[in-house]
Amino acid sequence: MGICDSSQNKSNNSYQPNQPNKIKPINKQHQTNNGHTRKERGSIKYFAQNNNTEKSNGLILTNDVIVSDSGFNPEQVYQKIKLIGEGAFGEVWQVRHKALGKDFAMKIIEKSYNCKPKEILNEINILKQLDHPNILKILDFHLTNDKFYIITDFCSEGELYHEIKRRNQFSEAETAFVIHQLLSAIRYCHKMRVIHRDIKPENIMIMGRENNGYLNVKLIDFGTAKIFEIGNMQKGLVGSSYYIAPEVIRGKYDESCDIWSIGVIMYIMLTGVPPFYGNDDDSILRHVTEGKYDTTIDAYINLSENAKDLIRKLLKFYPNERITAKEALNHPWFQTAEFKVTYQTINTVNPIEAKEMFKNLENYRSNNIIKCAALAYLVHQNTNIPQCLEAMKLFKEIDLNHDGKLDPNELEHGYMKYCGMNKTDAKNKRILVFANIDTDNNGYIESEEFIRACINPRLFNSKNYLKFAFDYFDTDRSGNISIEEIEAKFYQTAKNKNMNTKKELKKLFDTIDINHDGQISFDEFTLMIKDIMNT
Ligand SMILES: Nc1ncnc2c1ncn2[C@@H]1O[C@H](COP(=O)(O)OP(=O)(O)O)[C@@H](O)[C@H]1O
Ligand SMILES: [Mg+2]
Repeated sequence: MGICDSSQNKSNNSYQPNQPNKIKPINKQHQTNNGHTRKERGSIKYFAQNNNTEKSNGLILTNDVIVSDSGFNPEQVYQKIKLIGEGAFGEVWQVRHKALGKDFAMKIIEKSYNCKPKEILNEINILKQLDHPNILKILDFHLTNDKFYIITDFCSEGELYHEIKRRNQFSEAETAFVIHQLLSAIRYCHKMRVIHRDIKPENIMIMGRENNGYLNVKLIDFGTAKIFEIGNMQKGLVGSSYYIAPEVIRGKYDESCDIWSIGVIMYIMLTGVPPFYGNDDDSILRHVTEGKYDTTIDAYINLSENAKDLIRKLLKFYPNERITAKEALNHPWFQTAEFKVTYQTINTVNPIEAKEMFKNLENYRSNNIIKCAALAYLVHQNTNIPQCLEAMKLFKEIDLNHDGKLDPNELEHGYMKYCGMNKTDAKNKRILVFANIDTDNNGYIESEEFIRACINPRLFNSKNYLKFAFDYFDTDRSGNISIEEIEAKFYQTAKNKNMNTKKELKKLFDTIDINHDGQISFDEFTLMIKDIMNT
């Protein structure tokens, strides 16, 4: 049964994905020649700050270095397999990397749809800054005269929307497992001052299923996301009818509109019906603006008091009374025995593997930023391989407050739990290790920083992987990497453009260029990757 055909005379309410319920900003929508419309896109002007950096004598390693325009038309590098999504302004394809044989998703946006490069770059820039286990990763992008290409991880299990349609209702523990991941992702986004504005089951992809069938999810579609400044109100009417918060319709809102959308999803998953419904957008929006949802249906009445309490707090009509993501993650609903046991069983790493990973942390060195960039690129492109997934599990296990970052205390706790250390030893070990991994001194270790440091890079010791990374730096495909090519990557971050860093980069380059011919050959690159643990 579909989620809206279940009860309470809601059978006429056609709950459709994407376009029918997508609200366009009435005054700002871009009308195109062929009648298609595009969503409003946010501004990029607040992107000056970047927390996700690594330093090496003044040089910093940001995501701009490891995700930059490849310079190659992706249609030559990837083979189209299947059309998996059609949005208001383009297509999403399942594609296969011709050399690697691995599948990715490719979003193609036609410039003829009247979209400004600045608007597309907003989605690319926002995705580049976000490093969280439950947020889709951007792997590559390319801009041509007529098209924009965005390459991301391929989520083979489809949308949460179709899962809801298929299953209609979920148990409280299954729902809590999904809602917890969404709250963690949105807590991280809000901390990074990113407001998503279009959270809905069509924009939540299933990454995989645990043995008990529980869903691992990722938030996608940052096309309408925006960088906000604390205290500043947003104005654009953006969102989708079932999930949009009342204050967005009223025209003045902040990041708490994302919390409301998560509340709607929680209600739908638990009861099988949307809290605000209608036969068309107008009547759905009317219900939203009234803010009253049905608490008399059996499916709602039968929920635990904790579940009802969290729904009430997520769907508070006035945004200033609404719970924050941080508070919601601490709600008693996530403390119930069933959820806790499941969460811990799923995220507990094999103790021997965990100990091995902690040992790798000690050996990780970040003193040659070119090596770091190569490893960072390989990790970024391969976070879905088993070793990286295991490292991610360990990360989640250690991330006690679920904010998607590790602070020194959390790492210490990890040493105590997995290496059997007492508090003093764990603290000493943490002091030794933390600075190496957190070389930007921002006081936190983000998930990919952690994965890079705790996997054994020898897992990338296959010609395909190495060639893949080599080609990223060898942008002119000459078969050698020049200092100019390395500079071009590092200069994606403006802070790296000065004489001191230029000299430093050359010095580091020379240590990799063993035969001093002024080029890094494929053999030298391979040696460098293998050497990373032992520097
Ligand atoms: N990485 C991905 N893996 C699998 N499917 C995807 C991926 N990205 C997008 N899709 C599919 O394409 C649809 C549209 O993509 P999305 O980024 O949401 O663009 P739009 O802004 O057009 O909604 C999604 O709802 C989903 O079904
Ligand atoms: Mg979408």
